[in-house]
Amino acid sequence: MAVDYNSLNRQLAALIADEKDALANSANFVGLLYSAIADINWLGIYVLRDVELVLGPFQGKPACVRIPLGQGVCGTAAANRETMRVDDVHGFAGHIVCDPESKSEVVVPLSIHGELVGVLDIDSPHSSRFSEVDQLGVELLCNTFVQKLEQDLQDPGEFI
Ligand code: SME
Repeated sequence: MAVDYNSLNRQLAALIADEKDALANSANFVGLLYSAIADINWLGIYVLRDVELVLGPFQGKPACVRIPLGQGVCGTAAANRETMRVDDVHGFAGHIVCDPESKSEVVVPLSIHGELVGVLDIDSPHSSRFSEVDQLGVELLCNTFVQKLEQDLQDPGEFI
């Protein structure tokens, strides 16, 4: 079923409005999106630590902990500071398999005041699960989340 991203975005804004703790807001961001977006099997944040991404708050099965920048779908999105939408992950050279059931994936970089702090990664057990509308919707949600972080944190280094 299609996700109403505008409604979900309003729910997100309300959910994190009164809390300034980045870890609590990250956990609720992930929990809300995982419960609202249909046909996905994993959703979480990888946090940039030096030159690698490290597993942060997520919903789904346990996943790979460290992803070097530039590797896999997540590392490529992070290195290029660009959303990656992959219809068939098994056809993506360098895809890092955490759960063999995952077939398509969308990864959105998260930047605070222009500084990359991590990525949001969403996996689906269906090929081509994410349309352009989904990509724009997920980018909207990430933008709301990042804007709140920008209000709450003095420095991007304070992110989780
Ligand atoms: N498939 C990802 C790795 C992370 S998991 O899917 C949770 C990638 O290629 O970067």
